[in-house]
Amino acid sequence: MDLAGKVAVVTGGNSGIGEAIVRGLAAAGASVVIDYVARPEDTADLVKEISAAGGKALGADADVSTIAGIDKLISAAKKEFGQLDIFVNNAGIETRQGLLDLDEDSFDKVISVNLKSAVFGTQRAAQTFVDQGSGGVVINVSSVHEDWPMPGNLAYCVSKGGMRMLTRTAGVELGPHGVRVVNVAPGAVATPINAKTMQDDSLREKLEDSIPLRKVADPAEIARVVAFVASGDADYMTATTVFVDGGIMQGGPGL
Ligand SMILES: NC(=O)c1ccc[n+]([C@@H]2O[C@H](COP(=O)([O-])OP(=O)(O)OC[C@H]3O[C@@H](n4cnc5c(N)ncnc54)[C@H](O)[C@@H]3O)[C@@H](O)[C@H]2O)c1
Repeated sequence: MDLAGKVAVVTGGNSGIGEAIVRGLAAAGASVVIDYVARPEDTADLVKEISAAGGKALGADADVSTIAGIDKLISAAKKEFGQLDIFVNNAGIETRQGLLDLDEDSFDKVISVNLKSAVFGTQRAAQTFVDQGSGGVVINVSSVHEDWPMPGNLAYCVSKGGMRMLTRTAGVELGPHGVRVVNVAPGAVATPINAKTMQDDSLREKLEDSIPLRKVADPAEIARVVAFVASGDADYMTATTVFVDGGIMQGGPGL
């Protein structure tokens, strides 16, 4: 994968899948703006690690549930690295409430962080790509739950389902501008978002028994697919979803 000379923004980029995506894009030669809202020391360590390996990265503190936060990231990319080529909408949260338990504040929060951020991240990045005239790619980290119900996590599923149609509609609208929009949809990945399951041996075992490849993914396994989608090797791919789920959506044993 060659991303030399490219400039990327990764939202929620200092932990879990986002952190692995930052590492993967930087290792392929991209300069990366690492968005974060918590643990600035983790961002500083990541910037240091990338610089020590000869790469370029910059931390930017921005809440992507606001358009102002998204604009701050794009301005940082242009100011520090001169352009924007890759925008990864990765930030996400979940509240684990079913429909009958769902409250208005939790719903608004999940939709703002997961879906509103992706809609306006895609819009602002696409406008930048159109203004630059050189194309670009938006990658939305959705989930198998863009398509697969998860009872007890309704707002999360609604947000990821929204990302599914965001990518299809925006991909069609932006194709004539040479701008690609692609979802990368992970299955179960060991990260802070699902620490409770990952730290409980019996829950993790039950989950792994239900995955045809019999293992939860490492974040790097998702990041390698993101780097491929971001690269010219995937230049005919748009308005679609790449599932990276160990086969879980096809119904492994135990489901
Ligand atoms: N871990 C999994 O099993 C899994 C599976 C499918 C999809 N995903 C998706 O992957 C993405 C990354 O999640 P993860 O598993 O790495 O968990 P994570 O909790 O490590 O990452 C989420 C990141 O989003 C950031 N964030 C939260 N609110 C934000 C805001 N307002 N502005 C900017 N950043 C914000 C967090 O600080 C964190 O860095 C999410 O969109 C998640 O839905 C995860």
